[in-house]
Amino acid sequence: MKYNYFFQNDVVHSDLCDHIIEMHKKDLKPAEIRHQEKSIVPSNAIRKSSTAWVTDLEIKENILNIAHSYNQNFFNFDLYQNQNPDIQFTQYHELDQDHYNWHIDCATGEEFTYSQRKLSFILNLTDPEEYEGGDVIFKVSSRDEIPSEIIKKKGTVIVFPSFLLHKVTPVTKGCRNSLVTWLWGPSFR
Ligand SMILES: [Fe+2]
Repeated sequence: MKYNYFFQNDVVHSDLCDHIIEMHKKDLKPAEIRHQEKSIVPSNAIRKSSTAWVTDLEIKENILNIAHSYNQNFFNFDLYQNQNPDIQFTQYHELDQDHYNWHIDCATGEEFTYSQRKLSFILNLTDPEEYEGGDVIFKVSSRDEIPSEIIKKKGTVIVFPSFLLHKVTPVTKGCRNSLVTWLWGPSFR
């Protein structure tokens, strides 16, 4: 693996970021997390945010093409090529200090979409001038820490192995919007 995680600024144009926010902000519902083996329950201690699902086929195709190209260039994980994973629009609002505590994106068990997640993808949609907090932090060595004002920029893509421990710190002012998705593949070996 060449990187613990990888990010790049200015991948998606600011106008498209604004358009994605406008498309989804009216469809938001409280976020859920997978709990134990089978049920899905809200759990504000771990995660507090609002989410909607991307249904626009052009946006989905664009995002998945970007995610697969980053995999090929920087991780080279064996991924299923013809998958159609869900893409989630997520909003972290100051009102309840929305956050996502330490977690990994993949899970053990038989459920395909969770257990076979291998590469996670984040697109920052909001200019960091518009909010405070909402930092994406990875549990890696301090040598690899990147200043948050660089990684938070609007239009920035962050790609990382789904087994990497990470969190989103509470938003204390304004609101942070992002897109996230997870690419699947056969088990690591
Ligand atoms: Fe995550």
